[in-house]
Amino acid sequence: MKVTIDGIEIEVEPGTTVLQAARMIGGDVVPPAMCYYSKLKDTGGNCRACLVEVSKGSEADPRPMPKMMPSCKTGVMDGMEVKVKTSERALDARKAVTEFLLINHPLDCPVCDQAGECDLQNLSFKHGLEKTRFKEEKRTFEPENIGDKIQLHMNRCILCYRCVHTAEQVCGSRNHGVLNRGDHAQISTYVSAAIDHEMSGNMIDVCPVGALTDKTFRFKSRVWFNKPFDAHRNCDKCCGKTTLWMFGNEIQRVTARKDEFHEVEEFICNECRFDHKEVSDWVIEGPRKFEKWSVINQSNYTRKMDKVVIDTEKQILEGRDQDRKKISMKEVPYKTSEK
Ligand code: SF4
Ligand code: FES
Repeated sequence: MKVTIDGIEIEVEPGTTVLQAARMIGGDVVPPAMCYYSKLKDTGGNCRACLVEVSKGSEADPRPMPKMMPSCKTGVMDGMEVKVKTSERALDARKAVTEFLLINHPLDCPVCDQAGECDLQNLSFKHGLEKTRFKEEKRTFEPENIGDKIQLHMNRCILCYRCVHTAEQVCGSRNHGVLNRGDHAQISTYVSAAIDHEMSGNMIDVCPVGALTDKTFRFKSRVWFNKPFDAHRNCDKCCGKTTLWMFGNEIQRVTARKDEFHEVEEFICNECRFDHKEVSDWVIEGPRKFEKWSVINQSNYTRKMDKVVIDTEKQILEGRDQDRKKISMKEVPYKTSEK
């Protein structure tokens, strides 16, 4: 069946959603997505960041759809016409959603490890207001320690449910859901119940914001100071294909490889992610490429790996250690009884 998105026609299989059709076209007709994740089943429909205008329902029933539609949950009909970037109404709706998402999200990008690779930061850049209109107090949660590998910042969570689906589908543990409702809705208890699984680190990669971050990387560097390289190793638990984030000759963190929609290409195990931080553990393939506009490109690393040597000044490392001590939550005890 045929669908036209922002004037571009594409033929797709029945059952394709508008978001998937837009991704097939690519470029700036792709709506933003904060909760849909193509690598996980049953995602989408929670954030409303992907709203679009359906100006023609189908060939059989050409009436426009009166409300803005979540493209990740709207199936394509033959002859449908959709506006993503060419609709003022859709743009306004996405702006409103962005404002809502930011109501409770702390503006702590300067100290957040996700800064530079945060989907909410990107969404705000394109659809956000210059100033906040929200004067009330933001929703806050008590810090909770969910283990030695993953840092949870519930204040930053946008309740996208991606980690819940990862816990269920990748870690195979069904102890999850949202606890409480409204302003008190939180996801932490359920995440901590699945945190011991050997694939649990993938929750860090799927989290669109800085609510789940890598404790072994915490406050080590801003992502744009790292040089990401694709690498692989023989692993019997996962594909072993990763991105190494290097500072000089030091591997500061290991993540799964992410595609142009910021989704992981293949999930990786905790052993690859957390236990192999020596260059000799990996076969390095070459620099990982990012979108032209990505802040990660600030750090030019187009030269071959064997020639890239950056000496890290002792003073910089000492400064980082002091920062880490000051802002880290090490003093928050890890309550195993809560699991
Ligand atoms: S912790 Fe992250 S992945 Fe999980 S629901 Fe919150 S924002 Fe989504
Ligand atoms: S991506 Fe469609 S509702 Fe979240």
